Amino acid sequence: MSLEERLLLTAGEVSTGCHGDVGTDHALLPLYLLNHRLCEKVVATEKSESAYRVAKQALWGRRDAEVRLGDGLTPFEEGELQSVSLCGMGGSLVEEILLAEPGKVPDIVITQANRDNFKIRRWARSNGFHLVKEQMAQGHWVYEILTFHRAEGEDPAYDGISEELALFHGPRLLKEKHPLLISDLERRLGYLPEHPRNEELRRVKEALKILL
Ligand SMILES: C[S@@+](CC[C@H](N)C(=O)[O-])C[C@H]1O[C@@H](n2cnc3c(N)ncnc32)[C@H](O)[C@@H]1O
Repeated sequence: MSLEERLLLTAGEVSTGCHGDVGTDHALLPLYLLNHRLCEKVVATEKSESAYRVAKQALWGRRDAEVRLGDGLTPFEEGELQSVSLCGMGGSLVEEILLAEPGKVPDIVITQANRDNFKIRRWARSNGFHLVKEQMAQGHWVYEILTFHRAEGEDPAYDGISEELALFHGPRLLKEKHPLLISDLERRLGYLPEHPRNEELRRVKEALKILL
């Protein structure tokens, strides 16, 4: 089975050591990582018992994979992972998971949230992570794939750009003038209701001023 682009772009960001995939579902990402020798071991986790059974079946018999049942980062040991991915969930849930057990967050975090990416960027800003890469993929929706590395000091990605616009639309995507960001914002401009208190519309218009 071919992997969706959002997961392919995620796969390119994982560490070569032990990788954790939270909310793995069918374990498509772990299977791809191991089949392409992109990392040594994957620990895949699921909160749902039925999805856990599906993942167990998908990774059955592999010595380089483990599937564990549990909420968020709970199934991992502290210091066990070199990187973690959280894909296909909402940004609020991803933020909640990362905040719940800070001691278990590894040095590399890759997220592909379906919405509310500003909450994940905001988490990184206040929790010692820099946004080292932002990618976009076209699928059922337009997805943002964010790579964070633990780092000291101010994140240079935010230099010379409005903090608010950067949190909502991505500092690197804005600076790169990513074509998928431009088309996505133009599409949103077409349906957001015109109203002086429509903050989303204001941000979309301000971002397009930078991009066009
Ligand atoms: C939409 S699926 C995404 C599956 C896969 N990661 C992908 O991107 O294709 C979201 C999965 O996250 C799991 N999930 C939701 N909340 C979770 C949590 N707090 N901890 C672990 N898994 C969770 C769900 O059971 C579901 O299987």
